[in-house]
Amino acid sequence: MLKGKTIVVGVCGGIAAYKVVDVVSRLRKQHAQVHVIMTEHATRFVAPLTFQSLSNNPVVTDMFAEPKTWDVEHISLARKADMMLVAPATANIIGKVANGIADDMLSTVIMATTAPVLFVPAMNYAMYENLVVQENISKLERFGYRFMEPDTGVMAAEGESGKGRLPEPEKIVQEVLKTVTVDQDLKGRRILITAGPTREPMDPVRYISNHSSGKMGYALAEAAAGRGAAVTLVSGPVNIQKPENVSTVDVTTADDMLEAVLARQADQDIFIMVAAVADYKCASIADKKIKKTQDRFTVEMVKNPDIAKEIGKIKGNRILVGFSAETNDLESNARSKLDSKNLDMIVANDVTQEGAGFGTDTNIVKIIRKDGTINEFPIMSKLDVAREILDEINKLMVNG
Ligand code: C5P
Repeated sequence: MLKGKTIVVGVCGGIAAYKVVDVVSRLRKQHAQVHVIMTEHATRFVAPLTFQSLSNNPVVTDMFAEPKTWDVEHISLARKADMMLVAPATANIIGKVANGIADDMLSTVIMATTAPVLFVPAMNYAMYENLVVQENISKLERFGYRFMEPDTGVMAAEGESGKGRLPEPEKIVQEVLKTVTVDQDLKGRRILITAGPTREPMDPVRYISNHSSGKMGYALAEAAAGRGAAVTLVSGPVNIQKPENVSTVDVTTADDMLEAVLARQADQDIFIMVAAVADYKCASIADKKIKKTQDRFTVEMVKNPDIAKEIGKIKGNRILVGFSAETNDLESNARSKLDSKNLDMIVANDVTQEGAGFGTDTNIVKIIRKDGTINEFPIMSKLDVAREILDEINKLMVNG
């Protein structure tokens, strides 16, 4: 399956380095060309000769050593790679790449490549949970670097249990396959995504809104653009970075969002409504700041337009996907939204579950299709959830 693919494997200095020997051997069995770069610390755990024999290529350890052949220098490896796998990825390499430090061969090649890079972190659980490490991972994910979640279990070195173990080699190879074979399966498709909250003003200084962070919609936009789609992202006010290669339209209220969506709907093939649109807006907006003169204060609110429903009325045979954030009766609530809004698919999540819903980097979802079939997914990063949703949309387009 990996014939003709070149995979550059970066091995860092962690006890789990020995497991990567098996990963390299499996990649070779799949007929990949493998080049291993080891950090200096990695060479204390596994001898470079082991990787050299298995990969059938010289192992690069030192940036300033005489190259074995002039072809094997950092730029050449960076260019040659169809993807890079960094395993075990230590807090150190993650921190270096997240901060633009390229002070050895591995960090330099990671920085110089334009190929997808998959990090497989493995470290002590407290280190993995350290906010500095988590922040670096989030930053790199935003920039399009991929991460595998470490396994939970007893750590080789400490005998303690926690999240930080390197996943089994077979799982890593599966992920490599997914990364390297991501093709442009959405090329030529035009996708409109709504994301984030809306803000409904009360007076010139106050508004009513919700906790939506925009992360799920932005992850979808990024993943869809990476697969070749022309993506328009209509976004409410959020504090996250705009995805690359996506045309973003900033809006504030539900009315603005509807207007922006309707103005662009004719050109789209697929709609994914992720925005947490406020259901109600203030019946009137005070033109001056409301003073605290009364003990009780009542705001009259009126219903906002339902953007997904409006698109449902005019979509024809184009695909419309909705989201359903629920606190109870997840499936039945999601199904009735699917029907009432004329959706082809709904992504349901119980926002009361830990690791799901607003603000988190992960989500736990069920994808329910119009024909009643349901796919349930475990907790995964929002980027991985996005990939699964796009896979489902692709299946719908192929199978109808
Ligand atoms: O009805 P509810 O808000 O739970 O429906 C959620 C789905 O409908 C989401 O896909 C959301 O983006 C969309 N929606 C919308 N306009 C609204 C309310 C919800 O597009 N006013």
